[in-house]
Amino acid sequence: MSTVEHSVQVHYTHGRLEQAILDALERAGKDIGRLTAADLAPGDEFHIGGLEATIEFADRLAAVKPIAPDMRLLDIGCGIGGPARYFAGERHCKVTGIDLTPEYVAVAAALSSRVGLADRTEFRHGSALALPFPDGRFDGAYMLHVGMNIADKSTLFHEVRRVLAPGAIFGIYDVMREKEGTLYFPLPWSSDPATSFVAGVPAYREKLRQAGFAIEKERNRRAYAIDFFRKVRARIEQSGPPVFATQIVMGPTAPVKVGNLLDAMERGLIGPTELVCRAV
Ligand SMILES: C[S@@+](CC[C@H](N)C(=O)[O-])C[C@H]1O[C@@H](n2cnc3c(N)ncnc32)[C@H](O)[C@@H]1O
Repeated sequence: MSTVEHSVQVHYTHGRLEQAILDALERAGKDIGRLTAADLAPGDEFHIGGLEATIEFADRLAAVKPIAPDMRLLDIGCGIGGPARYFAGERHCKVTGIDLTPEYVAVAAALSSRVGLADRTEFRHGSALALPFPDGRFDGAYMLHVGMNIADKSTLFHEVRRVLAPGAIFGIYDVMREKEGTLYFPLPWSSDPATSFVAGVPAYREKLRQAGFAIEKERNRRAYAIDFFRKVRARIEQSGPPVFATQIVMGPTAPVKVGNLLDAMERGLIGPTELVCRAV
């Protein structure tokens, strides 16, 4: 494992994440012996827009290639598995998640078991830069807010292309660079600049094409993202912070991480973009 990968793991590792999630769900009035995927959704989707953004993203993928039941999907940088459970539970796919952070992989598996999705989701520890899967193993892949941690996007996209069957879809929803300017840390994906590699859309396009992908759809989501955070902030001002939300995963520095992200987006420096590609 590289030094960067080790630092990325350290950034994301909470230490007692599963218990913290269960405690918060209990405080939110949930019966933790009978949890559902819907109970988890406010806190297990670690990207801008949460479940709402995942649903829209899935619809965008489906517009390029129908998401068929039992489709084998790879979730790259799956975190604690919220998107994987959405694609498994609502779109009836078989989802394999891979993530660099061992604690996230363990929590993802534990949460899937609790909501009855252990048979349709599996979670593996590993790096997106050396995927532990044979060539052509998957019918589709996606990556939500992961590329910001990976400098070598060329190797990343070649690895993804390798494990996809010809014609497979690959969706990306990453925070990308829109304008030069200083980013302030911590950000949700990185405690300092050493593990943050936010690239522009042109670099994504070029490296995707070189790796064997045709780009079918592209959508800038910066305005959506700013609006999402402003609404969250307004709700918190009105009724206080939610008991269970992504702040449990991000830990005590969540407000400053989100504040720095919103500030950088409002200054026009960065913002999420969706890309939907097809393996050629
Ligand atoms: C911001 S979280 C997003 C998690 C998930 N995709 C979601 O939307 O809920 C970024 C995730 O990428 C993972 N990650 C970062 N670099 C990675 C790499 N080289 N290989 C695999 N996973 C990586 C991190 O461990 C973390 O779980």
